[in-house]
Amino acid sequence: MAQTPLGGGEPAWLAYRPVRAAEVFPGGVPDTIVRLGSDVLEQSATHELALGWRDMLQHEPRVVSVADAGAGRMVVIGTQAEIEAWRRPVREEKRLGPDAYRLYRADSRVVVEGGDARGVLYGSFALLRLIAEQHSLTALDETSRPWASVRWTNEWDNPNGTIERGYAGPSIFFEGGRVRADLSRAAAYARLLSSVGIDGCTINNVNADIGLLRPENLKDIARIADVFRPYGVRLSLSVDMSSPQVIGGLKTFDPLDPQVAAWWKAKVDEIYSDIPDFGGVVIKADSEGRVGPSQYGRSPADAANVVARALKAHGGVVLYRGFVYNNHLDWHDMKADRARAGYDNFHALDGKFDDNVIVQIKYGPIDFQVREPVSPLFAGLPKTNEAIELQITQEYTGQQRHLVYLVPMWKLSLDTDMRASTAAAPLPVKDIVSGRAVATQQHTAGGFVGVSNVGTDGWLGSPLALANLYGFGRLAWDANLGAAAISDEWTRLSFGNDPEVRATINKLELDSWHIYESYTGPLGVGTLTDTLGAHFGPGIESAERNGWGQWIRADHDGVGMDRTVATGTGFIGQYPAPLAAKYESLATCPDALLLFMHHVPYTYRLHSGLTVMQYIDNTHYRGAQAAAAQVPAWEALRGKIPDATYDEMRKRLKFQAGHAIVWGDAVTEWFTKMSGIPDALGRVGHYPGRIEAESMQLDGYKAVDVTPWETASGGKAVVCDGQECSVQTTWDKPDGWYDITVQYFDLLHGHSRFSLSVAGNDVEQWIADDTLPSDKMNGSTSTRITLDHVAIHHGDVVRVNGWPDGPEPAPLDYVSIVPSAVHSAVIKNADR
Ligand code: GCU
Repeated sequence: MAQTPLGGGEPAWLAYRPVRAAEVFPGGVPDTIVRLGSDVLEQSATHELALGWRDMLQHEPRVVSVADAGAGRMVVIGTQAEIEAWRRPVREEKRLGPDAYRLYRADSRVVVEGGDARGVLYGSFALLRLIAEQHSLTALDETSRPWASVRWTNEWDNPNGTIERGYAGPSIFFEGGRVRADLSRAAAYARLLSSVGIDGCTINNVNADIGLLRPENLKDIARIADVFRPYGVRLSLSVDMSSPQVIGGLKTFDPLDPQVAAWWKAKVDEIYSDIPDFGGVVIKADSEGRVGPSQYGRSPADAANVVARALKAHGGVVLYRGFVYNNHLDWHDMKADRARAGYDNFHALDGKFDDNVIVQIKYGPIDFQVREPVSPLFAGLPKTNEAIELQITQEYTGQQRHLVYLVPMWKLSLDTDMRASTAAAPLPVKDIVSGRAVATQQHTAGGFVGVSNVGTDGWLGSPLALANLYGFGRLAWDANLGAAAISDEWTRLSFGNDPEVRATINKLELDSWHIYESYTGPLGVGTLTDTLGAHFGPGIESAERNGWGQWIRADHDGVGMDRTVATGTGFIGQYPAPLAAKYESLATCPDALLLFMHHVPYTYRLHSGLTVMQYIDNTHYRGAQAAAAQVPAWEALRGKIPDATYDEMRKRLKFQAGHAIVWGDAVTEWFTKMSGIPDALGRVGHYPGRIEAESMQLDGYKAVDVTPWETASGGKAVVCDGQECSVQTTWDKPDGWYDITVQYFDLLHGHSRFSLSVAGNDVEQWIADDTLPSDKMNGSTSTRITLDHVAIHHGDVVRVNGWPDGPEPAPLDYVSIVPSAVHSAVIKNADR
């Protein structure tokens, strides 16, 4: 019997809330679950159905084998072969392939029929989904099969328990250099993945720790595979190409060396003896400092094939990453372009990869930015298996502290038409990565890979971010599903069927990508984040003048990368002709991708009629307002969703609202300075109610410059290098009720204390104990506290005291005092 992993992790969308059973089963709830087979996956399916029956339908079912079934209302589950043996032959046209399922009614029975045992499990989860959504199952008849054969997550976990670009606490797999003793969370994760049809999980960082392939570690890793197995999730590993040399002791790792091939074969055989259902390997090579075949003048195909041949006999696959680029590009060279790299490195190799190699391609040609065109490489490998790599963990999209539902963005890539001529049938990316050969393509496999990076903190940290993990799985199963439908499913499964809850959460999710984009990355400009640091807050110039190639090419006159064929890097020429023509011409290039494709003056008029500069200013203000409006929208759900989830999400949305202001100020100030064009509406640089800390009366505090300058108001902050310091100002405006914001920097290390007082009365005390991802004062650590409805009288002293802690000098940026929108007779403290 599969273990019940509920205790090991949050149930997420498998919440199994009670539903109105009579709506689901008007003729009465089936009271028996009949399991035709005994496969471990079918045991899990039975177990899961029993859980769902108990929790959703509040009915304890009888679980029996076919011999004891009897008559009456029942759910029968089995593979097609088992169903044929039980009752009737399956008609040819109803044959199901691997992993597929059919749900239907046969008299008083509900039947879950799987193409194989995994299909039975997927079908059972699908049935439970219908129940959770309170659909009537009277006329149930639904057949479903997976979009692609490879549906994997990649987890970037390191053996020491950290996770590269993980934003939800430590690893669920590793701790202190070893596999965790308690793997109940890993089991719970496999259950979650399985519930949306994900069939593989790569448990370690693409920047692979080489030691994991040592025999003693493989034995340990096999324990993870053991807890995945009952849910049909195959374990896979990221491997480093130099393994034959570093751990095998060979003189070389040249993929064409016979000894190297023999080493891989022996290693793969060893893995399969520990993990018989091992899925395969992910390879990152010749990328961001990882060694690779280029060292020996060999190609990615040579490297992929040597490992693929070792895996072939066992049914394993190689996911070879298309993320190969030179991170020492010459920024002086106006023809140099990182976006070209994928296509330039792989296109010529089309047809040279073995059939169990799949090239794993990030959705865009750069690196998981908030807006990128689809990677042209998808169209460049018609004779090669391809998978799309999506990033569930929000590395460049707010690190789960900002709400960004990514499914609409992913769908844009999946739906982009890559046909070579306007006359031919459409060829959307989703059909290329399906692995089902289409007329113009010769694929035998394909897939979806989601970089998930779940941790021990509620899987993804943010409750609403779980919609991305769910959505990834659902799209990998059916790429035709809509973003709104997926959000609604997820919301209902996670929070129930209350129409108000659904409407509010769906709106929050569906608006969120555009809101985030509007204050972080306008017009496809690329990254404005601190790209040399945490990839979180603003840090505009970090993109420029270095070898990483995420340039935005902003100067006094204009902004954007000229990627045209006519005058630029020629990147656009990598697209099939119809798409290339659309992007090449300013008349047809969508505004949303303008600065990705073209370099234009700030005065250039968009299709909307606004100039680029007006757009940049407007969108940042609107974005910050929209981010702020998310907070009351969420607050309307108080009492309708579990308190802990409500509080956690509210905290995150409030943080986001403040951080959107940091972003907006930084970007608009920077572009205003660079262009010399003032904001037409006079907003940039004029902040009503803002008092710079450095202009207040300082006691102990001293003013310092902040780098980059745009991440602090006025480019300066104050820091305390004593035990206790303060800033103060005397209120010279009328008596009234005011909202006071203190903008400060909360560094990763150190827990400074602060207090705010008005006329000597304590208003609030707080500790800067968040874990923002930098030890510098910058756009990643700038944060705030807001106290609403504080009474201030003319002549009152408003004072902030700071007590440094360790490396954190209680840094302050500014205090903002604005009239309260809502007057209140009570001073409300601590409304953080
Ligand atoms: C990004 C990310 C890295 C990661 C890399 C990859 O650049 O910042 O942490 O290793 O992608 O996908 O390989």
